[in-house]
Amino acid sequence: MKASGRFTLDDRLPADYFTTTLRSDVLAGLGAQPRTLPPKWFYDKRGSDLFEQITLLPEYYPTRAEQEILVERAPEIAALTRAVTLVELGSGSSRKTRLLLDALSAEGTLRRYAPLDVSATALAEAGRAVGRDYPGLHVSATVADFETDLVLPPEAGPRLVAFLGSTIGNFDSGQRASFYRTLAGAMSQDDVLLLGADLVKDSETLVRAYDDAAGVTAEFNKNVLHVLNRELCADFEPAAFDHVALWNEHEERVEMHLRSRIAQTARIPALGLSVEFVGGDSVRTELSCKFRRDSLTAELHAAGFMVHHWWTDSSNRFALLLTGRRGHEL
Ligand code: SAH
Ligand code: TRP
Repeated sequence: MKASGRFTLDDRLPADYFTTTLRSDVLAGLGAQPRTLPPKWFYDKRGSDLFEQITLLPEYYPTRAEQEILVERAPEIAALTRAVTLVELGSGSSRKTRLLLDALSAEGTLRRYAPLDVSATALAEAGRAVGRDYPGLHVSATVADFETDLVLPPEAGPRLVAFLGSTIGNFDSGQRASFYRTLAGAMSQDDVLLLGADLVKDSETLVRAYDDAAGVTAEFNKNVLHVLNRELCADFEPAAFDHVALWNEHEERVEMHLRSRIAQTARIPALGLSVEFVGGDSVRTELSCKFRRDSLTAELHAAGFMVHHWWTDSSNRFALLLTGRRGHEL
């Protein structure tokens, strides 16, 4: 645990995370058909910086839509929850979070901000900046993988758990079900979940959001190959892959792929693995599921959550949900 003033950073990642976990993920993902790679490996320092650039792109509407809802609703969220601790899962730059920090500070209840992210560099930078800008607020940051190690910091309640940016959509439905169950188990009766979810819309808008004209998303997608090259001494040639974003109408999700432009073999000596591609072969690197009100409400309900509020932006692109454990009234 590193501490400085009101900022602490607790690194819960196992010491062998970048060796053992990355290796087994890559072995399982590239060894199977269709080939996949888990998205959490996008987010090294460069990946987190590229994601921040994505949030500013004209095509990438989700950040602005969610921001619009937060601007309008943060005071109401603060009044309804009277949260003493704001926990945030996958906090990244914590930029939109400041709207919640402002509202909860104005409400007078907030004492602590507890961001959690797998990206240690992004977390340390964002956490320190929040600590600096909010005197009197304790910031306790946790580096952890919320898929395998979802523990809420044992801070004073009521706790508001924010999971923004439609990161929930990067899980498939099976992963979401187990995530909700673990989260429900970790939350006390008076804790509340604030969930950001991107909504189903026309495919052109969706695909453009994940395939921008400036090519930032393509760079972000290819960053996972740079991570494999660095961490596992692999020899992927990022320039020999095309970034592909497509709308899967049946599953209602955007899928990101890296498609080999040529016949090539990538070697991953750390795993004793050779991955052969014929031209056109691809690796699926990310899913971004899009939601509808009825089905999202139903899947939360099945996991023991009640949706108390469903707010959207003025163009109905994105939803922000305030949900509690079933049986707890707001
Ligand atoms: N909440 C921010 C960032 C969203 S990007 C926003 O709304 O803009 C997704 C964030 O989740 C990244 O910061 C990434 O590092 C983090 N993340 C992705 N997978 C994770 C995992 N398995 N465990 C913890 N954090 C994860
Ligand atoms: N949670 C974000 C989303 O699904 C993550 C994201 C945005 C992303 N753009 C991406 C992931 C491009 C991979 C590639 O919108």
